[in-house]
Amino acid sequence: MSFESIPAVHRDDVAEILIPADRIATRLDEMAAEIDRDYEGKEVLLIGVLKGAIFVMADLARRLNVPVAMDFMACSSYGSSTTSSGTVRIMKDLDADIDDKHVIIVEDIVDSGLTLDYLVRNLRSRHPASLEVASLLTKPSRREIDLPVRYVGFEVPDVFVVGYGLDFAERYRGLSDIVVLRPEAYGG
Ligand code: IMP
Repeated sequence: MSFESIPAVHRDDVAEILIPADRIATRLDEMAAEIDRDYEGKEVLLIGVLKGAIFVMADLARRLNVPVAMDFMACSSYGSSTTSSGTVRIMKDLDADIDDKHVIIVEDIVDSGLTLDYLVRNLRSRHPASLEVASLLTKPSRREIDLPVRYVGFEVPDVFVVGYGLDFAERYRGLSDIVVLRPEAYGG
């Protein structure tokens, strides 16, 4: 596989392009069509979880035909850099109330599910009219909590991925593809 889509400065760090940009785009078309069908006649509030979800948010919102509002939250989970510990803290809360709104939480990836579980419980207590989750990626083999993710882009194996918003130590978010890094890229 050619790595031409990867900026030269990062090319040597990449082991594999797992999901190329064109497949992401096609899948987002399908997810948006599904959301349009499900929310016909309603207005949707997309809540993006910073920072990883920014590209999914932008690309999904632009594909939707139903009216869309957007808000953002930022959470941090304590623990090492590549796994979630389950202790979640809200670093940035929503700008506005969500009561009686049709909310879709937009995530980059659901891994253990601990972050999302916390968010769902937190947002549900604010009485939205409805609450669903859309995640570009999910790693079912790592799930510790059973969570209904209504709209899923791709199921990925238990590998650490970066690109299209996902980072390792704040790097690689800007890649257009979702890639697997070589072990050397982690400094290991
Ligand atoms: P969870 O609480 O274990 O589901 O973790 C969710 C968060 O961990 C995601 O929103 C990402 O920020 C981060 N994360 C989990 N897996 C990956 C990965 O493979 N690459 C980059 N970040 C990841």
